[in-house]
Parts: sequence; C-alpha cells; structure tokens
Amino acid sequence: MMTNIIMLGPPGSGKGTQAEMISEKYGWPQISTGNILRHAIEAKSKLGLEAESYMGRGELVPDEVVDGIVAERLSHEDCRSGFILDGFPRDLHQAHALEEIASIDHVFDIRVPDQAIVDRLSKRRVCDCGETYHLEYNPPRAEGVCDECGKPLYQRDDDNEGTIRNRLKVYHEKTEPLIGYYREKGLLVELDGTRDIGEVFDGMCSRLDG
Ligand code: AP5
Ligand code: MG
Repeated sequence: MMTNIIMLGPPGSGKGTQAEMISEKYGWPQISTGNILRHAIEAKSKLGLEAESYMGRGELVPDEVVDGIVAERLSHEDCRSGFILDGFPRDLHQAHALEEIASIDHVFDIRVPDQAIVDRLSKRRVCDCGETYHLEYNPPRAEGVCDECGKPLYQRDDDNEGTIRNRLKVYHEKTEPLIGYYREKGLLVELDGTRDIGEVFDGMCSRLDG
C-alpha cells in the first residue's frame, strides 16, 4: 500500500518541520521543492541560477521547472511505498500536473494566521543537513549549532520581512485556492498550526494510523 501525502500551508506554517517528523516515523521520503531549489542555488547549477531571482523575491519558480523536478524525484525507488510532498503543489497548474503522475491520499493543511508568520520566520534557523530550528519554540541544544550534525546554523535569504510579506501574498493568491480544490476531493485534513509542534504532529499521526 502507498501513502502519498501533500503538506499545504503558508510559509512558516511548519510544513518542513512536520514532514521531517512524519518521514522519520513512517519512513516515507520528504520531498521539499524549496530544499531542492536551495541546494541547486548553492551548487550554482543551471537550475539554481534560474531559480535564485524568483526565490529571492518570494515569487514562485516557473511551473514547468518545478513540475519537472517533482516528476523526476517521484520516479525514484524510495517513493514506492509513499512520499511526503513539502511545498508542492503550489498552484492549480502544479496540482493538475501532479495528478498526471501520482495519486494522493492525504492533504494536510496547516493553518497559521499571517500575523504569526513574520515572528516565526525571522526567528527560524536552519542547517544545510535539513534540520530546522526556532530560537524560542524549538531551539538547538547548543547556540548556533545543529543538534544533528554540529554544523553552524544560519538564516535563509528569503527570511527577511520584505520577502516574507511577498511570500504570504503569493500564498494567498496562488496556493490558497488548493484548499478548496482538495476539500472537494475529500482529501483535506485541517490542522491548527498555532498549536505545539507535538500536538500538530499527533493530529497527523491519528489520521495516518486511523
Ligand atoms: P519553501 O522552502 O517551500 O518555503 P515556504 O513555503 O515559504 O515555507 P517555509 O519553508 O518557509 O516554511 P515551512 O512551512 O516549511 O515551516 P517550517 O517547518 O520551516 O519555498 C521557498 C521558495 O522556493 C518559494 O518562495 C519559491 O520561490 C520556491 N518554491 C518552492 N516550492 C515551489 C513550487 N512548488 N513552485 C514554485 N516555486 C517553489 O517552520 C517555520 C518556523 O516555525 C521554524 O523556525 C520552526 O521551528 C517553527 N515552527 C514550526 N512549527 C511550529 C509550531 N507548531 N509552533 C511554533 N513554532 C513552529
Ligand atoms: Mg519549509
């Protein structure tokens, strides 16, 4: 049996945090289009060069580019028993492209009001290895250093107030319509993302185990 999951929600709602926890517990890979694009930027690949200006402004990278990345990734062997899409689809075009290549079982919609987002993202710290922290809500054991791999933590380039505001605007315009789209298909599971990380996680697990 396959379990194919989409994580939906505004920037900073906890998609990555929760996807990582589900991946660890159930063994399905976390597929974060944002992480894939950031790695490409770091590697200065052709993809990275194309994506960088969009991401810096908080705009979506063109659909054709991202659709191709996801189609390729979902063809890997490790997606056979399930996968967790973190940050894809981001608009209706991407949702339709996904339908051509995979079926979806659960869409977790993590709801967090706009006012909470700027605070969350300006206090986020990340590591190259994929770990995510928050200075107040999920701090590393030693200041500025990743618990998992010991590397220095840093802030994402798009976690500045101007770019965060544009990411939110883009979310409301392009991504939010997916909520109704997946609700109509009976796949939507709404979660209150202002609750503790562990409580949000429990909500997902009870759905997955039920
Ligand atoms: P992407 O990397 O996907 O960024 P995003 O959607 O803006 O979401 P974030 O990663 O910022 O937040 P998150 O929901 O993962 O929250 P997190 O768990 O880190 O995309 C970046 C860019 O790439 C886009 O702008 C676009 O340009 C491009 N892109 C990516 N995918 C694309 C696509 N499909 N199409 C086109 N372009 C694409 O948590 C946030 C913080 O809050 C952390 O500090 C965390 O510790 C903390 N936290 C988490 N949960 C809680 C909680 N319950 N309580 C308190 N704090 C919490
Ligand atoms: Mg993320």
